[in-house]
Amino acid sequence: MAKSVNPDPWEQVARRLGVDLYLDLQPDPGDGPRGRGGRRRRSLAEALREAISDGRLTAGTRLPPYRSLAADLGLARGTVAAVYQELIAEGWLVARQGSGTRVADTPRPGSASPAAAGATPGTPHHDFGLGQPNPSLFPRAAWIAATRRVITEVPDTAFGPGNPQGSPRLRQALAGYLARARGVRTDPDHIVLTTSVMGALGLLSRTVFGDVLAVEGLGLPFHRQVVERAGTRTVPLPLDRDGAEVRRLTADTSAVLLTPSHQFPTGFPLSPARRADVMEWARAHDGLVVEDDYDGELRYDREPVGALQALGPDEVIYTGSVSKSLSPALRIAWLVLPPRLVDTARNAKGPRESDASIVDQLILADMIESGAYDRHIRRSRQYYRRRRDHLTARLAAAGITVPGIAAGLHAVIPLSADTEQEVFTDAWRRGFALASLSLYRHPAAPPASSGDGGLVVGFGTPPASTFHADVEALMQLIADHRPR
Ligand SMILES: Cc1ncc(COP(=O)(O)O)c(C=O)c1O
Repeated sequence: MAKSVNPDPWEQVARRLGVDLYLDLQPDPGDGPRGRGGRRRRSLAEALREAISDGRLTAGTRLPPYRSLAADLGLARGTVAAVYQELIAEGWLVARQGSGTRVADTPRPGSASPAAAGATPGTPHHDFGLGQPNPSLFPRAAWIAATRRVITEVPDTAFGPGNPQGSPRLRQALAGYLARARGVRTDPDHIVLTTSVMGALGLLSRTVFGDVLAVEGLGLPFHRQVVERAGTRTVPLPLDRDGAEVRRLTADTSAVLLTPSHQFPTGFPLSPARRADVMEWARAHDGLVVEDDYDGELRYDREPVGALQALGPDEVIYTGSVSKSLSPALRIAWLVLPPRLVDTARNAKGPRESDASIVDQLILADMIESGAYDRHIRRSRQYYRRRRDHLTARLAAAGITVPGIAAGLHAVIPLSADTEQEVFTDAWRRGFALASLSLYRHPAAPPASSGDGGLVVGFGTPPASTFHADVEALMQLIADHRPR
C-alpha cells in the first residue's frame, strides 16, 4: 500500500510515547472550523482515558509536553493544555514541577466508582450486560456528516412514504457490503429491510415458517418467544463444540434457526461437516435454514467464517442488523431472501413501510458508500479484540480457558452446572449485570450435564474508565467460588 503523505497524527504520538495508540483524529471534512476544536479536544481526552484504562499507557509514563503534542496533532496549545488539566482533575494524570505530566500511579478517576457516578441502587456496578456494543464507540461524527450529506442531497421524494422493502439505496449498498464482508450472494431486489433480527423473525413466523421451527438448544429466549407467539412451535437441537446437531433434523420440521458463524451464546462456529449436513437436509426436505449472523463482522482471529448463505442462496434466509455493530437504538436490520420468498415477505409488510425510518436507512447507506462504516468496524474490532485479550489473559492466569471467543462481544466463563446458580446469585448481589448460561436454555432441552454451566459476560459493555476494575471484580467473584 502507498505510504500516506499526511501521516496519521496518532502515529506520531505513538512513536513519541513508544506505545501503540490508535485514534482517528482526522478532522471531519464536513465540519466547520468552529465545532472542530471542541470535538478534537473531546476525542483526545477520550483517547487518553482509554489508553490509560486499558493499559497501553502505564502508570508513570511521561506524556509529551503539551506544546509538542499540540504541534504533532495540529491542535491549539490551549486545547491540549485543557485536556491535560481535565485529566489531572479526574485523577488519570499527575503533574509535578520539574517532572512533567505523567500517568497517575493508580489511575482511579472519580467516575470509576459507582457511588461517585451517582449510581442508584439497581444500577449495576459492573456492567457486563449483553445485547449492545459499547455506546461510547458510536461514530457520532461520521453519522452527523452522513446525515448532513443525505439531507442536503436527496430529492424531495425521499421524504414521502417509504417502500415496504426498504430504501433501494441501502439495499444496494448492503448487497455489496454483505458480499464483500460476509460472502453473502444476493442482489438488492432480494433484500427486505426490517427494524431488528427479532422483527425479521416475527415477519417470517407470520409467513414462511410452518408448524415447527428447530432452534439451537441454547439461544435468545425472546427470539423463541416471538416465533411462538405467531403460532410456530420451537424444538431444540442439542449443541456441542461443532454447533447444533443438525443431523437430528427431521422431515416434519419446516425450518431451522441457527447462528452458524458464532453460536449464541456458546461461541462455537458450525463445523464445515454440519454446514454441509444442514444444506443437504434443506434440499432433501424442501426445508429453510434461517441464518442469524448477528456479530459476523466482529471476528478477531485469522480464520474467517463466512456466511452459510453462500452455500445455498435458495435455501438460506440470512438476517442481521446493526444492533451489535452500531447500536440497537437505530432499528435497522435486513433479511436476504431466496428469490421465491421476496413477494411473501414484502406483502406481509403491507403497502408501505410502517416501522423503520427510511431516513436512517439512507444515512447508513451513505456511511457504507463513503467507507465510514468499514472504518468504524475496523476500529470496533481493534477495541474489542484488546478487551477480549485482556479478559482471556486474566482468566488464563487463573487457570480458566474460555472457549468460543474468536468473535463477538461476549464470553462464556465455564462453571460446573451445580455452582452456576450460586455464583450468578452472588454476582447480582455484588452489583454485576451478566447472565447465566441456563437463562438461554430451551425449556424442552435436556438439563445441563455437570460440566455445562457458565456465566455469560458482555465484555464490550463496561465503560473504558472501569473496564479493568470490572474485570478484576469478576476475577474476585470467580476466585471466591472456586473449590479450595
Ligand atoms: C443471537 C442474537 N441475534 C440477533 C441479535 C440482534 O438482535 P436485534 O437485531 O433484534 O436487536 C442479537 C443481539 O443481541 C443476538 O444476541
